Amino acid sequence: MTTASIPVYFLVLLVCIIYLKPQAIAQDENHFIYNDFHGSGLHLDGVAEIQSNGLLQLTNTSQQEAGHAFFPARLNTSTRNLSFSTYFVFAMIPEIPVLGGHGLTFIMSPSMNFTQALPSQYLGILNASNNDLASNHLLAIEFDTIKSPEFNDINDNHVGIDVNSLTSLASAPVTHYSNSDGTNKTLQMISGKPIQVWIDYDQGKNLLNVALAPIESPKPEWSLLSTKIDLSQIFLDSMYVGFSAATGAMTSSHYILGWSFSRYGQAQNLELSKLPSLPRQRKPRNKQSLEITISLIVLAVVLVITMGGFLYFVRRNKYEEIREDWEQEYGPRRFSFKDLYKATKGFKDKGLLGTGGFGKVYKGVLKSSKEAVAVKRVSHCSKQGMKEFVAEIASMGRLRHRNLVKLLGYSRRRGELLLVYEYMPNESLDKFLFTNEKPNLNWAQRYRILKGVASALVYLHEEWEQVVLHRDVKASNVLLDADMNGQLGDFGLARLYDHGENPQTTHVVGTVGYLAPELTRTGKATTSTDVFGFGAFLLEVACGRRPIETQTLPEEMMLVDWVFESWKQGAILDTSDPRLGGDYSADEMELVLKLGLLCSHANPASRPSMRQVVQYLDGVTLLPEILLDGATCDLLDDEACAEFVMSVPRSFEKISVHSLSSSKSILSRAL
Ligand SMILES: Nc1ncnc2c1ncn2[C@@H]1O[C@H](COP(=O)(O)OP(=O)(O)O)[C@@H](O)[C@H]1O
Ligand SMILES: *[C@@H]1O[C@H](CO)[C@@H](O)[C@H](O)[C@H]1NC(C)=O
Ligand SMILES: *[C@@H]1O[C@H](CO)[C@@H](O)[C@H](O)[C@H]1NC(C)=O
Ligand SMILES: *[C@@H]1O[C@H](CO)[C@@H](O)[C@H](O)[C@H]1NC(C)=O
Ligand SMILES: *[C@@H]1O[C@H](CO)[C@@H](O)[C@H](O)[C@H]1NC(C)=O
Ligand SMILES: *[C@@H]1O[C@H](CO)[C@@H](O)[C@H](O)[C@H]1NC(C)=O
Ligand SMILES: *[C@@H]1O[C@H](CO)[C@@H](O)[C@H](O)[C@H]1NC(C)=O
Repeated sequence: MTTASIPVYFLVLLVCIIYLKPQAIAQDENHFIYNDFHGSGLHLDGVAEIQSNGLLQLTNTSQQEAGHAFFPARLNTSTRNLSFSTYFVFAMIPEIPVLGGHGLTFIMSPSMNFTQALPSQYLGILNASNNDLASNHLLAIEFDTIKSPEFNDINDNHVGIDVNSLTSLASAPVTHYSNSDGTNKTLQMISGKPIQVWIDYDQGKNLLNVALAPIESPKPEWSLLSTKIDLSQIFLDSMYVGFSAATGAMTSSHYILGWSFSRYGQAQNLELSKLPSLPRQRKPRNKQSLEITISLIVLAVVLVITMGGFLYFVRRNKYEEIREDWEQEYGPRRFSFKDLYKATKGFKDKGLLGTGGFGKVYKGVLKSSKEAVAVKRVSHCSKQGMKEFVAEIASMGRLRHRNLVKLLGYSRRRGELLLVYEYMPNESLDKFLFTNEKPNLNWAQRYRILKGVASALVYLHEEWEQVVLHRDVKASNVLLDADMNGQLGDFGLARLYDHGENPQTTHVVGTVGYLAPELTRTGKATTSTDVFGFGAFLLEVACGRRPIETQTLPEEMMLVDWVFESWKQGAILDTSDPRLGGDYSADEMELVLKLGLLCSHANPASRPSMRQVVQYLDGVTLLPEILLDGATCDLLDDEACAEFVMSVPRSFEKISVHSLSSSKSILSRAL
């Protein structure tokens, strides 16, 4: 022994005294500190236990378990000075690395009896029927490692302040503020490493602060949560303080390594070096690693199956279609939705050709035949009449005429019908006539288009095995092929809306301005109503104007009326399209305009048939000279006119009441 031995002994003694001191003095309910839990006398329940090294284990990795540990004596909170400060170190060791559950809480509660509380997302503190009751008088700071959507959890690694409810008053993803870097750093609670927590409540400021840090870091200068809350409104006159933890289908072992608590200023610091050590984390022991491997494999298989199922479901949904037994006979006309989806590259807006009255039209290329197609998506809610309609579509697929757009087939989905047409590279005639998108059409082109469309209508009305009505003849339904031949599209589609309609409320299908007056009255389409539509179409092509135009002089608003008035004044050619620049055959122009008026006759019996129309256009028959005099206005009674006014679409609503009534008189005169 040297002389130096004496101070060393003294030092050892001193250290022993200091070491023993906290254990010796601390423990009353207002101020206590545990650097381990040997002989702590904590009140435990559930699966909670104190291990031989003084470690408090709240749960092990058994599923659906909870455990609690409370300081055994109640805090006297009747003073209403509820300020407290607590500092503890916890660790969560997940059963499967990276998948832990469910979490632990620091709680203050009027009771220690949590036998009715549930594990898993209820964290061992509440159950489904008492969640969110003010009578709970419960404060919990949750350290939650599973995202439970029913409690609006923000993620699977968050801290939350819970008052009477598992839906947190405030919560934050777990980070810790690093004093040295001045930045927030993510902290993974289920890393298995010890984590320090400081919870401080200041009654004067009504402020609750929660801060976390890994074991090697000092207390952060900034708290993770700093929330205004008045605990005096929540607490009863005596409260217990402790911890809970719970597992569910996912499990972690939840540990508390050390804990200090004080109602008089800052909680004492723990001696980190004295804290009990955590159990050795499962490493190479063969059986265990095998278990882990197996559970990981099982998990992976389950995940793959779930993902596969999910993808299958998504795919099925994406390509889902409706196919019924009766459709078998239309086999060749039936397209699979998947093929159409691929052909149009997923119905992207890029491939959108236009939007019509029935739905959007997309361009596509069929994979199998490399054929360009236009796919019309018609939304259709009612199942009623679908069978008849499809039958009709299928039979129309057999219609063959060089001036009819070929209907290649169809496909069906819930609430949706897809019609596949041959693609027309020059798109619709209205774009040439009424917009400046496309070049002007000369008279020869226009005249050929008129003849073509007329012959297509003769085919539909007379030359096929049954009478097919078009119901919506107009410039936007006439498409132009590569050689600028007119091809009539959209035939029969209007039928879709006729099927299954209550006859009392039959709404007229077609387009305002092309609708024959008797159609608005009776709702019954005939070949004559198609002729009426063709009449409007003749005038459109000749005049380069839509049948109703609101942005013009009142007397020119109704095209048919204007042409009629001009004709009476002997100046019918004044109505010809100015874009033609006078470059047309006057005979043909006059023929087209007069034929347009004749087809627009209010009396269906006075209109020619489509076959006659073709004969007039071909010059085989001469147009009767005496037409339209005494012109038929009486045929359109007030009621029909009212219907017409009712059926004017929204875009025409800007016509004032005055001009509506004047348009009524114009209309009755014209028709
Ligand atoms: N077969 C097709 N080929 C090329 N474009 C087409 C075809 N069918 C329709 N379209 C385009 O889609 C637009 C909308 O078509 P559609 O629904 O028939 O119009 P609307 O209902 O106004 O008659 C048309 O204006 C036309 O430009
Ligand atoms: C967890 O603890 C309970 C009770 O102490 C025990 O019955 C169970 O076997 C333990 N489970 C595991 C996985 O150790
Ligand atoms: C709590 O403290 C108050 C005031 O100090 C005292 O009057 C009361 O008796 C205490 N209550 C209990 C249950 O000890
Ligand atoms: C806890 O409360 C339940 C009823 O809620 C009761 O049956 C049980 O005896 C209580 N346990 C203790 C330890 O008081
Ligand atoms: C929930 O807990 C409360 C009290 O803790 C108890 O009265 C109630 O019966 C429990 N409900 C269920 C469904 O367990
Ligand atoms: C760190 O987090 C706290 C609490 O969420 C926040 O108030 C603070 O602005 C953050 N600081 C930085 C530097 O991001
Ligand atoms: C409450 O107690 C704390 C800690 O003892 C003390 O600092 C504070 O002044 C007290 N506040 C009131 C309002 O008594």
